[in-house]
Amino acid sequence: MQPVTGFSKLSKSQKIDWLVSHHLDDSTTARETLVQYWNEDEKLQDLHDGFSENTVTNYLFPFGLAPNFLIDGELVTIPMAIEESSVVAAACKAAKFWLDRGGFKTQIKGTLKSGQVHLMYYGLGSEMDAFYAFAKAELLESLEQINASMKKRGGGIQELSLIDKTKSLEGYYQLHATFETRDAMGANFINTTLEQLATTLRKKASEFQGFSSDVPEVIMSILSNYVPDCVVNVSVSCKIEEIGTINGVTGAAFARKFVRAVDIATVEPYRAVTHNKGIMNGIDAVVIATGNDFRAVEAGVHAFASRDGQYRSLTRARIENDNFVFEADFPLALGTVGGLTSLHPLSKLAIQILGNPSAEHLMKVTAVAGLAQNFAALHSLVTTGIQAGHMKMHLVNMLEQIGATDEEKKVLRQEYTDKTPSFSSLRESLNLLRK
Ligand code: MEV
Repeated sequence: MQPVTGFSKLSKSQKIDWLVSHHLDDSTTARETLVQYWNEDEKLQDLHDGFSENTVTNYLFPFGLAPNFLIDGELVTIPMAIEESSVVAAACKAAKFWLDRGGFKTQIKGTLKSGQVHLMYYGLGSEMDAFYAFAKAELLESLEQINASMKKRGGGIQELSLIDKTKSLEGYYQLHATFETRDAMGANFINTTLEQLATTLRKKASEFQGFSSDVPEVIMSILSNYVPDCVVNVSVSCKIEEIGTINGVTGAAFARKFVRAVDIATVEPYRAVTHNKGIMNGIDAVVIATGNDFRAVEAGVHAFASRDGQYRSLTRARIENDNFVFEADFPLALGTVGGLTSLHPLSKLAIQILGNPSAEHLMKVTAVAGLAQNFAALHSLVTTGIQAGHMKMHLVNMLEQIGATDEEKKVLRQEYTDKTPSFSSLRESLNLLRK
């Protein structure tokens, strides 16, 4: 096969022609599958095509709802976009459990984000200090226009400092800037600001007389997705006696095992990764539903989970004076205005379902979805095990895949109430049913 040139310039149907002839054996079914997912509304389809490059069709995620979340005394219905079958059911289960036990409590610990202009200078550190003192006022002044509208909304650049990183890498310095971006995730605002800082820095460097070596070289300017100062705390707690018996396990034994399960994920990275993955099932689902950047959130969360040098559980659990307490701090840089949030009709709807929240409120709701998901996973893990619930949900997909009719699905679901299904056992049951 030859490399393709000018692919992005081809029309959508030309791209599909190329794809089908080069990769899909000229299959008409493949073409039909792609076309099947186009939206009939051409304007809507154009909007979706425009979200990305070289778009040939839409890749749909289920958009589900988890109602009955009591968050700081208010009932919230959480929209979740996720393909994993048990996640929304798990969220609903956790919501129901905590609804009668005081609900979820949240608190914003900070909303600051940061970005850096990364630069190299191989002369004396004292020369860089003198240069920064010389340039700082103009660096900040040069941001006035860019910052104006963010400032009006109570945000903008908060602090600027020069950091000497030469102990980690020879010649490495950064301009480290912190930002408040209010209801916007703020990536564009931060990156524009940083690039302006870099431009002003280059200009001031050409005017400064005190360098004994080549002037500082800007390597790059970019926001950081590590947001340890943009954090929300979320917690649940209840008296141990209020827990009741769970899947045949007493409340006291449940609480003890639950705390131990979290302790294990705190000290053991093999477990911590899976434990935190379960948390991200909930967080990502809300982040995606609301049109936020889940890769940014993922990267930031996992860096936060290893901030002391070892990857650990994001959640904490303890028994305190006969109370079961379960909580977490999550670093979440989210927006409720701008970006995909304001463009994708379903993200707009998700934001509306949440009552047009501020970014802080969305941080709280998202954190609740994360804690709830971890609660539901551990709830199963320390009692029945995860497979019972998972397989029940998975059964629906398996029945679909083996081509069972609605009537057959009903009978087979009944048959497998207490049995673990496999594809071969299901096929056998289906064959028997059809005889
Ligand atoms: C599966 O998507 C998530 C779990 O593995 C999380 C966990 O083990 O805590 C169930």
